[in-house]
Amino acid sequence: MDVQNRRVSATRLHSMIGPLAEEGPAYASLARGIRRLVANGRMLHGTVLPSERELVTELGLSRTTVSRAYSELRDRGFATARQGSGTVITVPGGPASGGQEPMPDGAIELDAAGRHAVDLTCAAPSAPVGMVEHYEAAMAQLPAYISGMGYFPLGLPELRSEIARMYRQRGLETSPEQIVVTNGALAGFAAVIRAVLPPGSRVLAESPSYPNTIASLRHHGARVSAVPIGPDGTDLEAVGQALRRIQPAAMLCLPDFHNPTGTLLDNEGRERWARQLDAAKTVGIVDETAVDLWWDREPDVKPMAVYSDRIVSIGSASKSHWGGLRLGWIRCPRSLQGAVTSMRTSLDLGAPVLEQLVLTRMLQTGNGLPDESRKRIRAERDWLHATLSDQLPGWKANLPAGGLSLWWNLPAPRSTVLAEAAARHGVLLAPGSVFAVEDHGLEHWIRTPFALPHEELERAVPGIVAAWHEVA
Ligand SMILES: Cc1ncc(COP(=O)(O)O)c(C=O)c1O
Repeated sequence: MDVQNRRVSATRLHSMIGPLAEEGPAYASLARGIRRLVANGRMLHGTVLPSERELVTELGLSRTTVSRAYSELRDRGFATARQGSGTVITVPGGPASGGQEPMPDGAIELDAAGRHAVDLTCAAPSAPVGMVEHYEAAMAQLPAYISGMGYFPLGLPELRSEIARMYRQRGLETSPEQIVVTNGALAGFAAVIRAVLPPGSRVLAESPSYPNTIASLRHHGARVSAVPIGPDGTDLEAVGQALRRIQPAAMLCLPDFHNPTGTLLDNEGRERWARQLDAAKTVGIVDETAVDLWWDREPDVKPMAVYSDRIVSIGSASKSHWGGLRLGWIRCPRSLQGAVTSMRTSLDLGAPVLEQLVLTRMLQTGNGLPDESRKRIRAERDWLHATLSDQLPGWKANLPAGGLSLWWNLPAPRSTVLAEAAARHGVLLAPGSVFAVEDHGLEHWIRTPFALPHEELERAVPGIVAAWHEVA
């Protein structure tokens, strides 16, 4: 993985660390503040620290204090002195790339009581009530299609129209020709990156991020650089700096209930992000998989493509309807329509007709998640947040307005050993490092999906709590 020499200014470092603790020597507080940023994934492997002189001026400390803090970071493996660059952040143990989101093989094993492990590695809801009836109705429509060849490489025309209508409803003028139906968002993403990125291109992504899209970029030979984000959302200042420094061909954006942090970007932020992409001549690939997953109130936000015609949007029916449909779509800006559609047909020749009929019907009879599912998932979110906060008081997570997971900040960097211990207690968890884009600095974080049946969540909690007490 490509490790960039990103630079953090003295002012920015100061604002990221906040006020230094008053007790104990100042050098120790400064070194501790920087170590925390590394452990929290806010400062990535390869970041160049400000020169000692710049930091002395910014913090009003003595030169000896700053030198001693930097020297302590080097001694503990958190920094290295690099000739010509100055002091550069290192993650102890070296950078390790985030893996793919684990597949739930372990869930197949049974415990002593004959029960499957509770699988919290995958964040997806089950099918809504009425799914079978939608399939039955689609079956009744199928004979009309049987006499044809059954190939719809860009999607069934009626489904493309429905998806275009959804975008228009969200305030984005879209014609059915701009829509390409795919076998899920990930397949759509694979087609888009092949269409817009020559191998070896630079791509920017937020870290943490959804691991399978990062893996897809890597397999395509893209050089992925990360920009850190916090639990409070996309840091547009950091994005702007990274776009100017790296000049990537594309940036992966998750403004709608980011996976795993659950954050939502407002319209002002979307517009600013789109303008920054335009200024850098960078294509924005917007993953809208979670757009419909709001729990409290429908957010008043527009698709990012409203603000720039350099943005490709990728949607999915997996979370709003059902993962088993294996359907998603691409909304292309007109300038990229030709490139994306021809790439689509070089990968595969379309999605199954029956599932497309099912989804068309579901979109015609109601938009997305039924109220009943929304209410149930909201209650599970609240329950899991309250229960784990109560039983593990050191764990902190925002209550996300949407998305499918809680993103917990752990009081100690034990995410990987916690996941290993939890597996022994019958709970499968994806550790924070799985979501890291280019280093394993996310050991302070763990994701817990909440859209599972309540009995499963109830069964998971004691396992997680026991595992944490074992490793903390
Ligand atoms: C952010 C994100 N993007 C893409 C996907 C893949 O979606 P699909 O099932 O439509 O391929 C997921 C699934 O979890 C996801 O969370």
